[in-house]
Amino acid sequence: MRICNVVGARPNFMKIAPIVHEMKKRKMPHFVVHTGQHYDRQMSQVFFEELGLPCPDIFLGVGPGSHAEQTARIMMSFEKVCLEHKINLVVVGGDVNSTAACALVAAKLGIPLAHVEAGLRSFDKSMPEEINRIITDHLSHWLFTTESSANDNLRGEGIADEHIYFVGNCMIDSLLRHLDIALKSAPWRQFGFEPGSYAVLTLHRPANVDDVEVLRHVIRIINQVSETIPILFPVHPRTRERLIRGRLDLAPTVKISEPLPYLPFLGLMARARLVLTDSGGIQEETTALQIPCLTLRPHTERPVTITDGTNRLVGTDSEQIRKGVSEIFNGSWVQGEQPPLWDGKASPRIVDILERWI
Ligand code: UD1
Repeated sequence: MRICNVVGARPNFMKIAPIVHEMKKRKMPHFVVHTGQHYDRQMSQVFFEELGLPCPDIFLGVGPGSHAEQTARIMMSFEKVCLEHKINLVVVGGDVNSTAACALVAAKLGIPLAHVEAGLRSFDKSMPEEINRIITDHLSHWLFTTESSANDNLRGEGIADEHIYFVGNCMIDSLLRHLDIALKSAPWRQFGFEPGSYAVLTLHRPANVDDVEVLRHVIRIINQVSETIPILFPVHPRTRERLIRGRLDLAPTVKISEPLPYLPFLGLMARARLVLTDSGGIQEETTALQIPCLTLRPHTERPVTITDGTNRLVGTDSEQIRKGVSEIFNGSWVQGEQPPLWDGKASPRIVDILERWI
């Protein structure tokens, strides 16, 4: 039995790391393939170090490109790996291009496929991630879900119950495992902040950053919010490039930094007064940390963060954002609860299921 765990882009690392640890603990024969979709040290290697992951056994080094180029390069390289190493189980996570590309390869070679974080749907096919989710789910044998809406979505698409496993959230396994150590280093000090005195912003969705006029509008709102509370903004490479190209200026109360490693970012989120984001994973992490989250998108594929957690969709509507910030300051924002099974034990549940099959 040779199990291959695939990672490729930043949000994969914290989802797959606890599964790799669990397989190692149980001495299951497994290895890690990194596609190289993300390749900057700050977007990739640093996460391996912090999450205690071994160096990838195989690095495909595909790098950037259009969606078709990137997906095709990953498929061509990953097919060779599967054949050479006689892989008989592939585990992919999340919804990035690496996830869908490796899922396609596994399915076409007849290798059983497990999808971690299955069933999430934004119902917006203009998001590349939505396409990746649908493809990967419909090719998978095991669909490991994080919330009940995902189970409903999958059933609604005709996927049989026997393939759907509601196991909880592996990213929250990583969060709970690393929170104490993340707080110990007091990462806010490095930026001159006190706990609770700052906001954190992340922004990288094509819908928010690719069109310069949309980005200009978003930056105007961010600059306004920063008059109420200073904002720390670790800038994704995609966004940095767009900010420079559009010659967009941030207010001095918006402190920018390089993309941050996992531990400092986790510590900063955990002591922020609020978080503004268009990320998927951060909506979940803020719910687990009970930090108010204003999501700069019109929809979410993670509705449990709204029904149970601390998240609210505000799009890029300045009035909604102003109202949200004032509710946070006057204490009327919901406190939220932990969604079911976000208890730090999703990865042992997943590995139990795979082990039984093996
Ligand atoms: C990808 C995922 C997205 C995820 C995000 C997290 C897809 C379709 N999108 O988007 O779901 O939320 O990762 O970051 O898979 N770049 C660098 N250095 C890097 C990585 C990227 O400079 O280490 C540059 C690339 O050259 C490219 C841009 O950033 O121009 C975007 O990278 P890409 O991997 O295409 O998509 P993301 O926007 O990062």
